[in-house]
Amino acid sequence: MPTPATPATPPAEAPGTRATAAGAPAAAASGAPVADSLYPYTGRFPVYGTLPERGVDRAALLAMVRQMAAEEDRKGDLGRVSGSIYSGDHDHYHFLAQAFEAFAHANVLQRDMYPSATKMESEIIAMTASLLHGDEDTNGLMTSGGTESLQTAMLVYREWARETKGITNPQVIMPVTGHPGTGKAFHYFGIEWVPAPVGDDQRCDVDFVADHIGPDTIAISGSAGTYPHGVIDPIGELGELAQRHGIGLHVDGCLGGFILPFATELGHPVEPFDFAVPGVTSISADTHKYGYAFKGTSVVLFRPKALRRHQYLVFDSWPGGAYASPGMGGSRSGGLLAATWAAMVNLGREGYRRIAADIFATADRIRDAVLAQPELHLVGDSVFNIAFGSDLLDIYHVNDALTAAGWRLNVLQRPPALHFCVTRPNTQPGVAEAFADDLTAAVRYAAGPPPAPPRSGAMYAAGATALGRGILVERIRDRIDALHELGPRG
Ligand SMILES: Cc1ncc(COP(=O)(O)O)c(C=O)c1O
Repeated sequence: MPTPATPATPPAEAPGTRATAAGAPAAAASGAPVADSLYPYTGRFPVYGTLPERGVDRAALLAMVRQMAAEEDRKGDLGRVSGSIYSGDHDHYHFLAQAFEAFAHANVLQRDMYPSATKMESEIIAMTASLLHGDEDTNGLMTSGGTESLQTAMLVYREWARETKGITNPQVIMPVTGHPGTGKAFHYFGIEWVPAPVGDDQRCDVDFVADHIGPDTIAISGSAGTYPHGVIDPIGELGELAQRHGIGLHVDGCLGGFILPFATELGHPVEPFDFAVPGVTSISADTHKYGYAFKGTSVVLFRPKALRRHQYLVFDSWPGGAYASPGMGGSRSGGLLAATWAAMVNLGREGYRRIAADIFATADRIRDAVLAQPELHLVGDSVFNIAFGSDLLDIYHVNDALTAAGWRLNVLQRPPALHFCVTRPNTQPGVAEAFADDLTAAVRYAAGPPPAPPRSGAMYAAGATALGRGILVERIRDRIDALHELGPRG
């Protein structure tokens, strides 16, 4: 078995590799419930480990798919899920699906056949750039999601610095709160991560960045807002540093890129974070999050737009013909372009503003619910993503009780905390009030004190799984393996 490559510079705490809270009790040692939670359909639906000899009837298959979707959407549709589902409007999804259907089969690489892709893609990029104060020298790419957008930006800076400055040991300074999607880029592309600490406000320590810019620094990466706490790094000050040193500044707006532009005009003032800030040279913004498009799309923008070219690869003498694609992917579905374009043009500024207003109002109520509990405090200060912890209780016990009451919050570490990233489904009447009640009960439960260690653990994208809090890196790898195994045949 090959050993996985070690990152160029193993960061002390590489994003995504630390999954335990301090102390890491061994509660995760019992693995049995994991398998059960991964395969809830055991015994209910057939398991296809080989192609069925005779194709299965369409109606039967659609019934299965619809049944699974209905069950899995239930919690999200009730508005009890943090983040993850951004629109939740099934009419909107149906409209998008119709646009998707028209081009689902189209490969947008074949522009002679599908010139509509050029129209829709360029308009998606231009609309995103204009939302983020891009100028006529701003342009970008569409990618499959935030992680690919972040990787594309980092690849651009690596290639740009090598070609223009001869830097062969590239370094990027990014706060510890930066998303692991950028950490993946560091790993894949041999870029050294210089992790910047954050202050009590969870924003990047600018002095640290200033002190650590060196001859091999190719870029700084900040966020607007960060995944853990929804805060906006001090982009203005980072922009000054980037300009002074002639290096790039990427703003990870994957999460905030389509909601923060509406904050200030809606009475929730936020610092400038986009191309309005001098020194910002790239921004990623995910259409598949607060852009309310289907999963599988994101935009990464560059200013000047010539930066984008540094990651183009042209294989001009390949026997298959001269080959180039705009980014890391090859074939892509025209359906995703059509659905994203339709979402943006249909909602318009007014539609995005309306949903953002509801989200900010709900976030205010969630914040109030947290502040009403003397045992809890906010971690960071965000207009849409409310993170909170406690010095008096184990916050993971609080999460256990919220989970039992049907909520799915995101569990954080360093410091231990939870966040409620407010999205459109959470804005339904009664949701914030129900959350306030359940939070009161959850705090009471945690103050109990409960007889057992908490079951919740800080594992990204897994919810409060039965894995418990003592998950180690090997256990996470085991889980990824398990996600690709056939379920029990029943
Ligand atoms: C700030 C931030 N950046 C990047 C990403 C990664 O996006 P994706 O999961 O689409 O790759 C996320 C995901 O939540 C995020 O919050």
